[in-house]
Amino acid sequence: LLLVMLAPPLAVGAAGCAGPFSALDPAGRDAERIARLFAWMAGGALLVWVLVVALAVYALRARRQHSQRTAGALIVGGGVMLPTVAPTGLLSWGLWERPGVLALPPPGGLRIAVTGEQWLWRVRYEPPDGPAVELANEIRLPVGQRIALRLESPDVIHSFWLPALAGKIDMVPGRVNHLALEPTRTGTFRGACAEYCGTAHAWMRFDAVVMEPEAFAAWLARQQQPAAAPEGPLAARGGTTFLASGCGACHTVRGTPADGVVGPDLTHVGSRLRLAAGVLPNEPAAFERWIARPHELKPDVHMPA
Ligand code: CUA
Repeated sequence: LLLVMLAPPLAVGAAGCAGPFSALDPAGRDAERIARLFAWMAGGALLVWVLVVALAVYALRARRQHSQRTAGALIVGGGVMLPTVAPTGLLSWGLWERPGVLALPPPGGLRIAVTGEQWLWRVRYEPPDGPAVELANEIRLPVGQRIALRLESPDVIHSFWLPALAGKIDMVPGRVNHLALEPTRTGTFRGACAEYCGTAHAWMRFDAVVMEPEAFAAWLARQQQPAAAPEGPLAARGGTTFLASGCGACHTVRGTPADGVVGPDLTHVGSRLRLAAGVLPNEPAAFERWIARPHELKPDVHMPA
């Protein structure tokens, strides 16, 4: 009996709540709200569970008979009032938190458009001053600033989920959804698609890097530049091969003739943390593997080997 009683709290404790992919280790204003609500819901559930187990133990051991009145009070209190009052209170709290979680920053600031596609995240920065810049599978944000995300999908339903920063929201074809992110500390966090969207759904991930505002501004300015010219004979050969093999039909590299829009923009692909929508580390060996055998890593990916 003791084991049964202790199992749920032990399981929760052992599951591990920290890390870059945890809603219980919040790094954003909205994730904090959600984590607080969750803690109260879990605490409430635990309290009810302890009460029920204690009552069950008591009922097994009790030898004396209760009066009709006590039994009736127990049934009305524990069976009707408690299950009505507790969820109503939690629902009211959830509804009360809603406007804060859905609030968008005033227009005029930086906007980021994210489209979920089979199977990548196209990320477009639209600063109020300066040219827009497109990247993929990585979102960088300045700490302490609330930024609006415009979320869309051109193919099937995806779901944008960055648990450490905010709640999740679907990306529905033919519809525009909005989500605001307000990071409270710097660091690298992980996101994923949370709606089954085809064979490689589980391989549709991304990174979110929260930076100090100055570092973020410098990063964005660098991203706005065209790609640097290849340095050295090996890189030059790579550049020629890229253009000669037709990669530019699907990929854009700003500053070169490659201007395809089917696949992700590769202008500053070397600056990203991971390749293939969060599947591989951004290293030469992984890059080689990805280009040579993409279907091994990501079934049904549109890129040919
Ligand atoms: Cu996109 Cu699942």
